[in-house]
Amino acid sequence: MDQTSLILAIESSCDETSVAVIKNGDIILSNIIATQINSHQRFGGVVPEVASRHHIEQITICIEQALKQAEVRKEDLDAVAVTYGPGLVGALLVGVSAAKAFAFANELPLIPVNHMIGHIYAARFVKPIVFPALALLVSGGHTELVYMPTENEFKIIGETRDDAAGEAYDKVGRVMGLKYPAGKAIDELAHQGEDIFKFPRAMEHEDNFDFSFSGLKSAFINTVHHADQINEELSKKDLAASFQQSVVDVITAKTVRACEQLEIKQLILAGGVAANRGLRDTLDKELGEKFNHLDFVKAPLDLCGDNGAMIGAAGEMLMRHQVFADMTLNADPSLEFDWEPEAIK
Ligand code: KG4
Ligand code: ZN
Repeated sequence: MDQTSLILAIESSCDETSVAVIKNGDIILSNIIATQINSHQRFGGVVPEVASRHHIEQITICIEQALKQAEVRKEDLDAVAVTYGPGLVGALLVGVSAAKAFAFANELPLIPVNHMIGHIYAARFVKPIVFPALALLVSGGHTELVYMPTENEFKIIGETRDDAAGEAYDKVGRVMGLKYPAGKAIDELAHQGEDIFKFPRAMEHEDNFDFSFSGLKSAFINTVHHADQINEELSKKDLAASFQQSVVDVITAKTVRACEQLEIKQLILAGGVAANRGLRDTLDKELGEKFNHLDFVKAPLDLCGDNGAMIGAAGEMLMRHQVFADMTLNADPSLEFDWEPEAIK
């Protein structure tokens, strides 16, 4: 029997319209990403209505380009995978509607994919995921530690109580006058400065796996405002370095604690903030020093942000588990992990 699988994967949960063709779950034949960042920058964040309109303009073009670049015909495909949540409802609906229409017209099964499972499965493009695994998911909307005893079971063991890490990056970036999204620019500045402000490290020593970034954000904003009032110029490089060090210290401390307490074979770093050089390097160093047998897998740099390829990687796993949707599939903006407690050993 032919074991090859070809999946057309669609992602439109936020401000990237992306379509990929994925072979056997871990080979990228194409991964088209149409970003809308330029349209949102002047508003300092993603405007949902603007995002939906861009997705509508781009989705058909992206599907055609993805097939063309992959040199795959519609009739060669085995399934269509699509992000149906979490995300912006109008943005999600464009991808879901396009996927349903494509699947119906071409008589293909439809695979509903949770965007966060997609982020985790970006690690597949580096090497196979081995279980039990732990995923550190850091993005613009989420910051969480997810325990996976098997490939389709996800339990959040810790999460942010307020802002997500990426959200905090973008908010302090705005105060520094940086363009949205500010994560990458702050990361670059941070490497040229020093942690002289010693901002708070919230919950760093608490015996749990949760995070909090709103206190850090307030401390940062207060420092900048106070300096403004007394006409003092602060170094952007030192501000960035101090902010980043605080974020990285807390995330690293919580992740190391989780790795100590859980029996896991692999730690996966994924999500938009996983592109952060400070975080990648610090985790590499700390985990390398503390754990001999833990495999640390970082999502590829170009697949940390939202993309269709990761949805195809997760879609292939879900297809093997017979997770299919029918034409009633709807967008679910606050979709959560579907955890089966009986699976805990
Ligand atoms: O996963 P993603 O593309 O979208 C969501 O699902 O949220 O993550 C976007 C977030 C933004 O907040 C952006 O500022 C942040 O990822 N980001 C970074 C870096 N690159 C992107 N944050 C810190 N350092 C980076 N190098
Ligand atoms: Zn994302």
